[in-house]
Amino acid sequence: MMAIRYPKSIVAALGLSIVISLFFSCENNNSLELKRYYSEGAAIYQTHCLNCHAADGSGLLALIPALNDSTFLKNNKASLACAIRYGLKRPIKINGKAYDENMPAANLAPMEIAQVITYMNNSFGNQLGMVTMDEVEADLKSCK
Ligand code: HEC
Repeated sequence: MMAIRYPKSIVAALGLSIVISLFFSCENNNSLELKRYYSEGAAIYQTHCLNCHAADGSGLLALIPALNDSTFLKNNKASLACAIRYGLKRPIKINGKAYDENMPAANLAPMEIAQVITYMNNSFGNQLGMVTMDEVEADLKSCK
């Protein structure tokens, strides 16, 4: 009996297409997850944040900072969960302007914090990707 021998190039192409399709299905899962976090986060934002930071994230005059300072959000990524969970009261600079009012604590679960940060990080002109529940749980362990 003769074994069928496929040319190497066909085997290689097949292998490559499997790798590519795995890669894209992963990509799709990630962006699906991001979309899910984002839409849950939008609802949480409306209930817990919109009153102060406004629907478009623009804040309020000199009292409440806007949420569109991507550089601040990126540099303070690891402490955002703590600020949301336990409140924030320290002088900060947002878009070059100084703020020092009190942000109250929000009684949210780690998953909800991850969702609302993911919403904020991908709204108001920010494009900062997603923050997972695991990251939030880790960040909450080192709150100061
Ligand atoms: C009662 C009003 C109020 C509510 C409600 C509120 N914030 Fe804030 N937020 C503030 C104030 C005031 C500051 C500035 C605090 C400071 O200067 O220390 C702030 C600061 C921030 C900052 C850091 C500065 C910036 O502009 O990036 C983030 C991020 C933030 N809030 C996100 C949220 C999110 C998310 C929610 C909802 C879970 C929320 N806030 C709810 C008033 C509020």
